[in-house]
This record gives sequence, structure tokens and C-alpha cells, in this order.
Amino acid sequence: MLSLMVVGSGGREHAVTRKLRENPRVGTIFVLPGNAGIERDEACAPVERVGISATDLDGIVEFAMSRSIDFAVVTPDDPLCLGLADRLEAIGVPAFGPTKAAARIEGSKSFAKALMSRAGIPTAAYRVFDEVGDALEFVRRSSMPVWIKADGLALGKGVVGASSVRDAEDAVRAAMLGGRFGEAGRRVVIEEDLRGIEASLLLFSDGNHYRLMPAAMDHKRAFDSDEGPNTGGMGTIAPHPMISPGLLSRIEREIVEPTLAAMRDEGCPFKGCLFIGLMLTADGPKVIEYNCRFGDPEAQVVLALLESDLLDIMAAVRNGSLDDADVRFNTGAACCVVAASGGYPGEYRKGLPIFPRDFSVLTKQPEGVKIDCAGVASGSGGSDGLITAGGRVLGVTAVAGTLSEAVGRAYAAMGRVSFEGMRVRADIGARALSLSKSEAANG
Ligand code: AMP
Ligand code: GLY
Repeated sequence: MLSLMVVGSGGREHAVTRKLRENPRVGTIFVLPGNAGIERDEACAPVERVGISATDLDGIVEFAMSRSIDFAVVTPDDPLCLGLADRLEAIGVPAFGPTKAAARIEGSKSFAKALMSRAGIPTAAYRVFDEVGDALEFVRRSSMPVWIKADGLALGKGVVGASSVRDAEDAVRAAMLGGRFGEAGRRVVIEEDLRGIEASLLLFSDGNHYRLMPAAMDHKRAFDSDEGPNTGGMGTIAPHPMISPGLLSRIEREIVEPTLAAMRDEGCPFKGCLFIGLMLTADGPKVIEYNCRFGDPEAQVVLALLESDLLDIMAAVRNGSLDDADVRFNTGAACCVVAASGGYPGEYRKGLPIFPRDFSVLTKQPEGVKIDCAGVASGSGGSDGLITAGGRVLGVTAVAGTLSEAVGRAYAAMGRVSFEGMRVRADIGARALSLSKSEAANG
């Protein structure tokens, strides 16, 4: 039996772990550090939590060696950008995830923008600044809104949209002088505003070949109707109703293929899951950003639709044999609805009991519906229940023949979950449903 290691602790890692479990050759799956929901989920068992954080590279490498791990799956951005996949491969542990050099496509926005410029990939016009005076002068001459982005990783919070020169100046000063994003923000990228509908396109790449996953739509803002602050993602649906086969071929030709070719030319072929954040503008699709990993909660919907074996695909990605791999998706639709702590993405309370208290009742769902745990912990006093421990607490993902059915089933299951202050957007999938209606009416 194979010993697997999954690095990370969110809903994405819960979905990945459960999917890996479907392979009959998989023995114990170690999750570092995982969460209490993954640990208890029968659908992941046998699974063992290891108290090593995802960014403790020395600890992870030592653990992988001591337990003779057969295959490692690294999904969060930080360890990938720090070079965990390289470190594991160097000790002979096969790893799914890009090298440190390839992870720069997410870890450095100036790297990604320069790559797109050289390859002629459509994206927002931009400038890179290392000097605060130059950045301030530039925003004073720019038409608003503009987007100010920390060059490096900033826990997903390094992007500020400014609608006035004043706000733009404040954002530049906060990043470059105030250390708002730490070292990550000493250099900033300033971009023009793109208008349109966003899409998340994820694909597997072994460096030379790629396989697309169904495009997803995230719901990033905290509140209904896309109001409120940006979050990690409050819910997703897939497939994305605006990505027709014709548009998808255009995206492959103008964006996917040149991106992968540019990474090869750069000497760092991309092996792993590439996430392309797109804006579907009136002038065609443009890249907003790249991520070097599965999105969260994009992973929950695309993996729910994946019919083939995830471990076999990941091994093919790592071995460079993706061309021969079986990568098939359900032709229906999936919806993931996230339950967040009251106050998220700002301050929120932790330690609140999650109902139902009986874990097996919480996770017992009809066929095609799954709970993915994220910010949860075990309650004290030996009770079987979970308590809240993070901003995004858990998600419900449902698969069905149509999007409206998937949305209905996800909300029905979420209706049975509760905790004090729980916040769930009521409109996940609503925009996609109205877009698919107008597409049908036009087409
Ligand atoms: P993040 O995932 O934190 O990078 O969030 C970035 C979000 O900011 C994107 O999903 C977009 O909604 C928005 N955004 C970033 N850059 C631009 C841009 N140039 N034009 C319009 N929206 C943008
Ligand atoms: N849901 C967006 C991300 O994972 O970056």
C-alpha cells in the first residue's frame, strides 16, 4: 500500500484527501497539519494528522523521510513558493506541485506580468515600482480605478482596488512604507482596471502537456450581490456558463499554450495544477493572475466533478506522462457554498460549537453531497462535536445533472448546519444561472 502525504489544512485539502482515497492502492494518508474534520471523515480514513505546519519545510522533509512517504501532494501557495516540492524531490519523495522557480508565476506578480508581456498574453496594462515616489507620481497621473498589488505573497490580501487618487496613494504608502504586506509589498505592481465577468480556469500540466478542468466561477466578496470586502472565496460553481467551447479554444490558443511555452522557455516548465484567473472583457479574455495550485473553493467543485483517479493524474503530472492519463469529468454541474465565521474576513470569534454536534450526522449527506471542513477544531470535554477555528469554517459541495439542482442541493444541506454568527452567502450560483438563461435565450 502507498503512504501519501497531503500538505495543507483547508477545505481544499479535505477535498483532495477524500479524492485520493478513492485509489485502492492508497494506504494511510498523512495530513500536515490537516484539520479535525479531515481526521474524522470516514471517507478519508485511514488518515493521520501530523502537527507540522505547512510552512515548516525542515519538519515536513524530515517527516517524509522518516515515514518513507511514497507520494506527496502540496497544495498551498506558501510552501510551494518556498520550494517544498524541490526539497521533497531532492530526498527522493515524488511530489505533486511546481518547483520553486515555477511557483514564481504566483509568488511574484512582476515575474508573471513580465512573462505575459514577453509572450504577448492578454492582461491588464501595468507598471512595476520599487520606489515609492515613482509609484505615487504614477497613480496621480493615472485614470481611476487602478489596482495596487504587492509583488509577493500576502496571505491572499495583497490586492487593493482604488477608486480615487487618494485611496491609491494610501494603498501605495501602506504597502511600500507601512509594511502592510511585509516584505511582499516593498515592490508593487500597479494595473489598469479590467471590466467583465471573472472565471477561474484550472488545468493539470506536466510541463509539456496539459488537461483542462471545467472552468469555475468564484464568489470572492463577503456579502450577497458581490458587496463587501474580498475573501478567500465564499462559494464556487462549475462549469462556468460563459465559457463556451469557442471561447475555451481561444483561451487555450491565446493564454494557456503561450503561458506553458513561456514557462518552458524560462527554464522552469510548470508541473502541477495551474490556476488562471481570467477576466472575460469586451476585448476578449485577459489574465488577472496566475496561481500555482488548486483554488479554494475551486478545488471542491472541480474535484467533485472529476471521474478519473486523482492520484494517477498527479503521478502522470509528476512523471511527464499526462498525455496518456485518463482525465474525465462529469458533464453535470457542481456548487460549493461556504459557511464563514461572523466578521470574516475581519476579526471573528473562534471556539463556537458547530451543529449538528454528532460528527457522523454532520457528514452524513445524500449521494453527491459532501462536507469539506476548513477552520474547525475538536471540542473539549471528549464531545464528538466540532468547534469553529477559522474564518472559512466549512463548505458544502453538491453535484447534480444541472446547475440549478446542484445549487439547490448544496443549500438544502447547508440549511442543516449552524453555529453562532454563521455567515453564508445566499446567492452562490445565482449570477451563473441568470447568465446561462440569457445565453440560452441569445443562442
Ligand atoms: P486576489 O485573489 O486577492 O488576487 O484578488 C484579486 C481580485 O481583485 C480579483 O479576483 C479581481 O476581482 C480583482 N482584480 C485584480 N486585478 C484586477 C484588475 N486589473 N481589474 C479588475 N479587477 C481586478
Ligand atoms: N479562490 C481563490 C483562490 O484560491 O485563490
